[in-house]
Amino acid sequence: MSDDTGAPRTDDGAGIPKPSSEPLVVLSDVNKYFGELHVLQDINLTVHRGEVVVVIGPSGSGKSTLCRAINRLEPINGGTITLDGQPLPAEGKALARLRADVGMVFQSFNLFAHKTILENVTLGPVKVKRVKSTEAKKQAMELLERVGVANQADKLPAQLSGGQQQRVAIARALAMRPKVILFDEPTSALDPEMVQEVLDVMVGLAKEGMTMVVVTHEMGFARKAADRVVFMSDGQIVEEAEPETFFDNPQSNRAKDFLGKILTH
Ligand SMILES: Nc1ncnc2c1ncn2[C@@H]1O[C@H](COP(=O)(O)OP(=O)(O)OP(=O)(O)O)[C@@H](O)[C@H]1O
Ligand SMILES: [Mg+2]
Repeated sequence: MSDDTGAPRTDDGAGIPKPSSEPLVVLSDVNKYFGELHVLQDINLTVHRGEVVVVIGPSGSGKSTLCRAINRLEPINGGTITLDGQPLPAEGKALARLRADVGMVFQSFNLFAHKTILENVTLGPVKVKRVKSTEAKKQAMELLERVGVANQADKLPAQLSGGQQQRVAIARALAMRPKVILFDEPTSALDPEMVQEVLDVMVGLAKEGMTMVVVTHEMGFARKAADRVVFMSDGQIVEEAEPETFFDNPQSNRAKDFLGKILTH
C-alpha cells in the first residue's frame, strides 16, 4: 500500500488522524504472576479510540503478556481491564464476542494451515458473527485486496511468503471488525525484505483511525505511526511519551540503555 490513501491529512504531516479522548481499553492496577514471577506490576494504561500505542522493552519485560491479558488469553491476578467501558468477560459467548472485538496479530502468523487464504479470512465472521457465507467471501476479498494478496485467495498459507501470510493475518483480524487490534512483534519473524510491506499495511490502518496496540522494535514505524510509545521493563511501565520525545530524550536509565542496544545493533 502507498501513502496516498486519501485519508484526511492532519498537521503532523504523516496523515495519521489524531486519536479521540474516548477511552477504549483501560487497564487499572493490573497485576499478573506466573508462579513467583511478577510479570505485570501495577500496570495502568489507557488506550483511546483511534490511538496507536507502540509498546517496546527488553525481552521478558511482559509485553506479550500485556497483549494476551487484553484479550484474556491470560487471566490477571489483580486490577481491572475494561473494553469500551465493560470489564473483560471470563468465559462463554461474552468471551467469544470480546475476542471478536479485540483482534490479535502474532509474530508467527498463526493461519490455519489446511484452509485456503480465503477460508482463513471468512471463518471467523461465518462461525462467530454468523455472517452469510456469500457476504463473508465478498468482504474477505475486499480485505485481501486491501492488503494486496487478493490474487492468492485460493492458495494454502504455506504457498505464500511470510510477508504475504502476515498480511492475510491482518485481513483476518480486520474481518471481525474489531474495536482494537493488538500486534505482537508482527514483523520479527519476517525476512528483512518483507518487513516493510507489512508495516505499510499497518501504517495504512493507523491512517484510517484504527485503534492499535503494537509491540515492535521497528522504530521507524513507531516514529511514523505511534501517538504514544510505552516503554516496559521488568513488568512495569517505566516511561511513556510521544515518539519523538521518547526517542530523542528518554528519561530513565533503563530506556536509555535499551535504546542504546537496539539502535546500535
Ligand atoms: N506461560 C508462562 N509461564 C511461565 N512464565 C511465563 C509464561 N509466559 C511468559 N512467562 C514469563 O513472563 C515474563 C514475561 O514474558 P513475556 O512473554 O510477556 O515477555 P516479552 O516482553 O513479550 O518478551 P519478548 O520480547 O522476548 O517477546 C518472562 O520472564 C517469561 O519467561
Ligand atoms: Mg513477547
